[in-house]
Amino acid sequence: MNQTGAEILRVEAVSKRYGGVHALEQVNFDLRYGEVHALVGENGAGKSTLIKVLGGIIPRNGGRVLFEGNEVDYQRPIEALHAGIAIIHQELSMMPSLNVIENMYMGRMPGRFGIVNWKDLERRTRQAMALIDLHVDPYAAVQDLTISQRQMIEIARALSVNAKLIIMDEPNSSLTQGESERLFAVIDSLKARGIAIIYVSHKIEEVLRISDRITVFRDGKYVGTVDREDATEQKIINMMVGRELDRTAISVPDKIGDVLLDVRDLSGPGFDKVNFAVRKGEIVAFSGLVGAGRSEVASAIFGARPFTDGEITFYGRPVRFKSPKHAIRAGIAMVQEDRKVLSLFMDMTIQRNITMAELPYMSKGVTSDGAERRLAQQMVRSLDIRLASLDDPVSSLSGGNQQKTVLSRWLATTPKLLILDEPTHGVDVGAKAEIYDLIRKLAAQGVGVMLISSELPEVLALAHRIVVMHEGRITGILDRADASEEALMAYATGIADDFAVPAEVSS
Ligand SMILES: Nc1ncnc2c1ncn2[C@@H]1O[C@H](COP(=O)(O)OP(=O)(O)OP(=O)(O)O)[C@@H](O)[C@H]1O
Ligand SMILES: [Mg+2]
Repeated sequence: MNQTGAEILRVEAVSKRYGGVHALEQVNFDLRYGEVHALVGENGAGKSTLIKVLGGIIPRNGGRVLFEGNEVDYQRPIEALHAGIAIIHQELSMMPSLNVIENMYMGRMPGRFGIVNWKDLERRTRQAMALIDLHVDPYAAVQDLTISQRQMIEIARALSVNAKLIIMDEPNSSLTQGESERLFAVIDSLKARGIAIIYVSHKIEEVLRISDRITVFRDGKYVGTVDREDATEQKIINMMVGRELDRTAISVPDKIGDVLLDVRDLSGPGFDKVNFAVRKGEIVAFSGLVGAGRSEVASAIFGARPFTDGEITFYGRPVRFKSPKHAIRAGIAMVQEDRKVLSLFMDMTIQRNITMAELPYMSKGVTSDGAERRLAQQMVRSLDIRLASLDDPVSSLSGGNQQKTVLSRWLATTPKLLILDEPTHGVDVGAKAEIYDLIRKLAAQGVGVMLISSELPEVLALAHRIVVMHEGRITGILDRADASEEALMAYATGIADDFAVPAEVSS
């Protein structure tokens, strides 16, 4: 039965408060069978909050929700699931030590009288994964998978439920272009089967491409809904930010200096004979597909992973950091990709999450409290982190604002070399521009930057030079002037034939 076009969901004047914060104030939203309805808004606009309300994860404070014509108020996630609502959450929600099958069926293990039919679950897991062309061992522990594989499993899990409504909260923030394309193809086939989809994303281009309608929230309020035919990127952005966004990037003079970091023939688990250099004031981007070995190389430099061969020279001296602590002391900072697992201390305050890396170096004594506060306030201002109070736990921040908090912690240490691994994942357009400006300003001050990014426009907008990796090896080093999306893709997929890898640093 395909009821495409009829209404499946109606949200009327729904509100949600957290203490004094109005995360949602009387918002409206409606959705039809077979429709992809995008929900967009700046970081902290209330998108994930609405999703959690719909999924029975948090209670609402007011308003009505109608699902398939009936007023509903799910108290637990399992109730929403049974009603036919599946959610792909923004923050990966799996148990790292459990295997893929266990995670797929967590909380809904079929099997009567306590007997689990593993063969059957394995078969169903493989089926769900095959839908998105994902091939991982169903018995592998999730912690041993890459972030992109974990995100693909979240998608497969939602597909395995037989839902009528699938809610995707930034489902592809860690996916490669190819994987995202596969997701879009799956979305198309879900639509064709009459399944309704709520799609949350900060990638406006993508939203315009796949959605039928677009609803905008701002500061917890409903701003409006537009049909795709009437939508343009500029219009959506204006609705999101409520003002004209100044999209002209600040131009800072390139002041490229001496070599800061020199990496020679570096080999280790996941990468082989890697050669490159970063100079003072230079932004070197690392492009490539997920799994190309970029994060592994960066982690090896940072002392977070081993390397077996090769040399690293920092400030003219050979170095081999035993741990990130030693790297930080030498002036290197690294913003890791998986913020939830690696970077944030969820139950600590926002202030402490910002200042903790710098804290050991701040003057002790009576003034330190005030100094810590001032540092935190300064970082909150310069990155425009939206919060109620610095004393709230960092878990109370929206996803994008959590990302900015991680970034601010490392900027607070005033590093000489800054390694950024996908720094703008989940960050809204306005904040993205701010982060870009900040990176440029740091470079202008002489900081060397290693920017690992899967977003080609980001790479092309920021980098002085671009190192492309494929299967653990460098396949090309390009000057910005010679780089295009096509060229980067060719090197990233290993199909470019002239593997010009200059051994020397000069460009
Ligand atoms: N558990 C909580 N305690 C207190 N405040 C919260 C909590 N969860 C969310 N908030 C606040 O509610 C507001 C909306 O957050 P929400 O996560 O819904 O934003 P979002 O639109 O999903 O943003 P993003 O694009 O960054 O993911 C934010 O101001 C956030 O700080
Ligand atoms: Mg969110």
